[in-house]
Parts: sequence; structure tokens; C-alpha cells
Amino acid sequence: MTQPARRTAILRREAVIATVPVALAALFVAAGPASAGTAGTSGVGDPYFPLAGNGGYDVGHYDLTLRYDTGTGHLAGQAVLTARATQRLTRFDLDLNGLKVTGLTVDHVKADHTRDGQELVVTPRHALRKGQTFRIAVTYEGKPGPVTDPDGSLDGWIPTDDGAFVAGEPQGAMTWFPANSHPTDKASYDFTITVPKGRTAVANGVFLGEDTAHGQTTFRWRQREPMAAYLATATVGKFEVKKYTTRDGIQVYDAVDPREAEAAAPVLKQLPSVLEWESKLFGPYPFRAAGSIVDRAPNVGYALETQTRPVYDAAPGLSTLVHESAHQWFGDSVTLTSWKEIWLNEGFATYTEWLYGEQHGGETAQQTFDALYARPASDGLWAFPPGDPGSGANIFGTPVYARGAMTLHVLRKAVGDRVFFRILRAWAAEHRDGHGTTPQFVRLAERESGKDLGDLFQTWLYTQGKPAGLSKP
Ligand code: TRP
Ligand code: ZN
Repeated sequence: MTQPARRTAILRREAVIATVPVALAALFVAAGPASAGTAGTSGVGDPYFPLAGNGGYDVGHYDLTLRYDTGTGHLAGQAVLTARATQRLTRFDLDLNGLKVTGLTVDHVKADHTRDGQELVVTPRHALRKGQTFRIAVTYEGKPGPVTDPDGSLDGWIPTDDGAFVAGEPQGAMTWFPANSHPTDKASYDFTITVPKGRTAVANGVFLGEDTAHGQTTFRWRQREPMAAYLATATVGKFEVKKYTTRDGIQVYDAVDPREAEAAAPVLKQLPSVLEWESKLFGPYPFRAAGSIVDRAPNVGYALETQTRPVYDAAPGLSTLVHESAHQWFGDSVTLTSWKEIWLNEGFATYTEWLYGEQHGGETAQQTFDALYARPASDGLWAFPPGDPGSGANIFGTPVYARGAMTLHVLRKAVGDRVFFRILRAWAAEHRDGHGTTPQFVRLAERESGKDLGDLFQTWLYTQGKPAGLSKP
């Protein structure tokens, strides 16, 4: 595990210890090595985002109370986390970027805390026992803004002309709430968000209600099914809102920037039929709520599959709606455990777009595959293998999306349609509300097909360059 920032912090601390008087030094040293074993790590060991998430505890629930002033861009927050210690803990970290912490308690007792880059380092008054459930309450405030990802894109709390576009993949959750911000730790969420009257605050899950008083409106949301922090949103703007329930009993809440409404309407109208079509292919829709947030955020350049309710930077096309909806199964319900395995999200969502075309009078998936396969070996499509993008700067690159989808198409051709769709349904069902890894997917595909698929996945997911000599299916 590489943790450059923490490592230098520890070295600095040791240097300080060397200069203090002997008796005092003895005290520090006694605390030093002992606490080294009982301090939660500053990351969970993600090779591309070493400081993402934290070791030593697991969050079960986030209760976020936010007040956002769209005029000044000021955010005041209280985050109450319910967590369980997975080891004895004398100290642990949360991820929080910028913002000022104005209060912090652990089990209602004030706790010492310091900041070290994106780490909010907490030393509770009393050590936490392994297995102990504890409550962390953090009050914080400031003017949030996005982080810039390794690929140069904005991520996190992104102010707009009428509010904020809030999307946290892969690392932006920490720009607006303190979290164990790695997809390995999923939790339920409650949101209470207050914004100036006339603005709407849209989060994940079921809409519980809104109240207006003194020129402020408070919106309440509840996301019960476990969610990774990167999929949380609290998007604020002037929105036209539409609420309805689908034939399957899914509660839909759409929020649309009026400037995008005309372009968005014909696409959003298709959400129930898209979810029904995907449910037939992948098994039941995994959540009780759904919807769309269509913002106008010209400096964002992407949409995100925020859980239950994707957020779009502008009116989406139908294939984008299909893509973000597919992520509800692949990414949101079944979540990756390492950003390196992002093809499990993007390859699946992209292949769903191909399937949608095939089953709705467009190109067949085979035609889409063939057109891509015809690209020369020098094309960016073959720049790196989708199962090993090489760095955080590549996780949203074309090979992840397109060659990831091609991998699924090659699998489909190898096992036949009946088994292929059985594999997708088994994947969604067996890992629902949880996690899945590439080796687990390969094993499941081999189990369902009775075939040795090692070479196929080795070639398509992990081998550099354009896979050669593909016999025409
Ligand atoms: N996961 C998003 C999608 O495919 C895309 C996305 C999220 C993205 N964050 C990004 C793309 C940052 C580029 C840069 O629906
Ligand atoms: Zn995607």
C-alpha cells in the first residue's frame, strides 16, 4: 500500500519526538508504536487512489444535514456517521477536502482532530474496541468546490449559476461531506438539505417531503439500500419537478432545469420503459426509487449514475439515459472494490447501450463490435487493456468503455445468448447491494457456462494492444 502523505507525516512526528525531554519522550514513544497498530490507515489500499477511504472502521449510515446558500456559495453541514470499528482504534481518519471543521464528537464526547491533506485525523478521547459501534458527529462549513481528477475533469461539489451540480466519481464526495470515501464501504443515507426558497435540493433515494419557512426550503431524502459515497448527490438548482410511481411501484422524482426541459422531456419520459426493459435483461430494478436530475452545468462534460437518480450536465440523449440506468445494476447495486476494475461499471453500461440499439431497431451489437474491431492497431481504443487501465487518469478512457463492452460481446458469442443473459442476471442477483470483482465475474461466467474462459478474459481484459486473429463469429 502506498501512502505517501501519511508516511511523511509519521516521519515528521518521529523527528519531533527526538527533540523532546527524555521523560516526555518516553511517554510519546509508549504511545507511538502502540498507536501505530491501533490507528486506522489513511487509505484502503486502492492502487490508483491511495488516500481514498480509510482503514479500521466501516460506516453503516450517514445522516447529512446541509444548508447551502446559493447566493454566497456557503455550505454549512452536520454529518452524523454510525460506524463499527473493525479493529481496536486509538485514531482514525475521515476523508474531507477543504471546508472548516467547527466541531467533532465521538459518542457525544469531543474528540481531537487535525487536518492532513484530504485526511481528517480523529483521536477519540477513549479508544474504540474492535467490533464497537460508534457515532461520529462532524459540524463543518465553508465554500465547497470541486477537486480536479487525474484526467483533468471536475469532480465533487461543482457550483452552477443557480446552485451546484454534485457528483463524486471517483473522489469528490469528500468535497461536501466527511466520509469513508472508497466504494468498498457502502452505507445507507439520510439527507436534510436547506436551500433558498425557489431552489430545489435533490439527493438519492425516496423523497420524504419538503417544508418552507422564513424564505428557506428544506428537502428530506432517504437512501436505504447501501450506497458508495461516490454515488451520493445533493444537486441544487432551479428545477421543474415531476413525481410519479411506475407500474412496478418505483417512486420516480425528476428535477429538470427549465432551460433543458424541452430537450429532456421526450427522453425522461422513456425512463419507466427503459427500466422495465433492463429489468427483463438483468433482473428486478435494485432500488425503490428512481428519477433523473437534468442540470445545466456546461463546465462538467459528463453525466453520473448517482444512485437511484442519475445527474446529467445537460438534457441527455436516450443512449445516455440507458447507460446511466444500466449502472443502477452494474456499479451502484453491484459495486467495484478497486478503481482499477472500472470496466465492471463502464463496460457493462456501454454494452447495455449496444443491446438497447439491437433490440430497438438499431445496429446489432455485432455490427457495433465489428465497426470498433475494424479500427487500426494504432487507434486509441487499443491504448491500454480495460482490466488494467494503468492509472487513475485512464479510468474513463475509451478502452474501458468500448473494449470493456467488446469483452462482454466476445463472452456472449462464446457462451450463447441464453447463458450470457443468465450470467448477467446471476451477477446482479448474487452481488445485489454489495460488491463484485473481476475474478468473481470470471468464475461466475465459467460456472454458468461450464467453459474455461481464462484465455478469453486474459486476451480481452488484460493483454496490451489490439487482440489479433479474431475468428469471425
Ligand atoms: N461514470 C460516468 C458515466 O460513464 C462518467 C464519469 C464520471 C466521468 N466521472 C467522470 C467521465 C469524470 C469523465 C470524467 O456515466
Ligand atoms: Zn458509465
